[in-house]
Amino acid sequence: MRLKPGSRLRGRFRMPGDKSVSHRLALFAALAQGESRLGNFSTAADCQSTLHCLEALGVGLRREGADVFVSGTGASGLRPPKQPLDAGNSGSTLRMLAGILAGRPFGSTLTGDESLRRRPVERVAAPLRAMGARVETSHGKPPMTIEGGGLRAVTWEQPVASAQVKTAILLAGLQADGVTTVREPAPSRDHSERLLPAFGAKIETGNGAVRITPQTALSPVDLDAPGDISSAAFLVVAALILPDSCVRIDGVSLNPQRTAFLDVLSAMGGDLETCVVIPSPEPVGWIEARSSRLTGTEIGGGVIPALIDEIPALAVAGAFAQGDLVVRGAEELRVKESDRIEAMVQGLGALGAAIEGRPDGFVVRGGRPLHGAAVRSHGDHRIAMALSIAALAASGETEIDDALCASVSFPEFFAFLDQGLAG
Ligand code: S3P
Repeated sequence: MRLKPGSRLRGRFRMPGDKSVSHRLALFAALAQGESRLGNFSTAADCQSTLHCLEALGVGLRREGADVFVSGTGASGLRPPKQPLDAGNSGSTLRMLAGILAGRPFGSTLTGDESLRRRPVERVAAPLRAMGARVETSHGKPPMTIEGGGLRAVTWEQPVASAQVKTAILLAGLQADGVTTVREPAPSRDHSERLLPAFGAKIETGNGAVRITPQTALSPVDLDAPGDISSAAFLVVAALILPDSCVRIDGVSLNPQRTAFLDVLSAMGGDLETCVVIPSPEPVGWIEARSSRLTGTEIGGGVIPALIDEIPALAVAGAFAQGDLVVRGAEELRVKESDRIEAMVQGLGALGAAIEGRPDGFVVRGGRPLHGAAVRSHGDHRIAMALSIAALAASGETEIDDALCASVSFPEFFAFLDQGLAG
C-alpha cells in the first residue's frame, strides 16, 4: 500500500458494529434458547472467526445484510467440533470461547494464525482449570485443548486486567455449580456485564467484582451493535493532525470503558465533542473532531486497560504534538497482535519521529516533521492503520507492507479515508 500525504479529512461516518460487542453478542446468542437478531454486526474478520467457530460447534447462523441471525440451542446444544477450532487472528474469540468450552462435556482444540499462536493463554487456562476443566496449552500459547464439564464455582483474582479472561470465567461460571466471582486489578471493558443481563443472565457488579449465577439457557435478543469506537479512533486522530479537517462519527459506542482515549486527546488540546444519544445497555452517540494544536501528556496506571487498543493511534497524535507524550504501565502492548511498542517505535521512527521504547511503554518527543518511508505493519491491523494516518500527515510517499490486514478489525478503513480525503 502506497500512501501520499493527505490535505484534509472531512465528512460524516457511521462505523460498522463494535468488534468487542459483536463477538459477545454472537457467543451469548449461541447460549440462548431460540433465534437472536444481531443488527449492525461487525464486518471485522475477527468476528467472522467467532461465527465460523460457532458454526463448527453446530450453531445455526444466517446473515442478511448487516444482520446476523443466531439459532441458539443453549450450551447443551453445542456439538463436539470435528476439527480444531480456528480463531484466526482473534484473541477475543479464542479466550472467550474457551470459557464456554470449559463447561462442555467433550474435547476441543482452539488454535489460530501465526500471531495468535504467539500470544499468552495461560491467563485463561488457569482459572478454567481451577473450575475443574482439563486444559492444556503449548507452553502457555495456543493450540489449547479443553476437556470440559462438571465445573465448580470459583472466586478468581485476575493478576492482569483482561476483559477477555473475565468474560471466559463468567461464561464458565454460567455452567458451574454455584456463584462465580471475578475480581481484577483495574477495570477492563464491561460489555459482558452490560450485555449478559439483556440475555436474561443474573450478574451482579460492585466493589471491583463481577458475580454470575449459573443458568441452563439464556434468552434470545434483538439488539444492534453500536459503531466501533476503536475503529473511529483512527479517523478522529487523523482529523486532529491534518489541517482544515472535521469528522463526525454517528451511532458510535461511547461506553466509558472505551472512551478514555478521547479524554487523553482532549487533555492534549484536541478539539472534540461527544454526545450520548442512547444510554443503555451500551451508551451510543456521536463524536466530532476538528484539526487541533496538540501538546504532549503522560498516561499510565489504572486508565491503561480502558485505552490499550488506542495507544498506537495516540502515539501518532503524540508525534504531531508539541512536547512529550509519555506512556507507562502498558506492557500488555507487547503481547497484542504484535509487540505494539516495538512496532510503533520502528514504524514512527522510520517516518522521522523521535520515539523511544521502554519495557512498559514509550516516549514520543513530538513536533518533528514526519517524512514518507517504507514501514511494516507486522501483520497487525492497528499498527497498519496507525502508520497510515501518520503517513497522511507526513511529507512524501509512504509504503506500508500488508496494510490490508486492517480488515482484521476495520475492512472499510481505506475506503473511509478515501471518502474523507475527497470530502
Ligand atoms: C477485548 C479486550 C482487550 C482488548 C482486545 C479486545 C475484548 O483485551 O485489547 O482488543 O473484546 O474483551 P484484554 O482481554 O487483554 O483486556
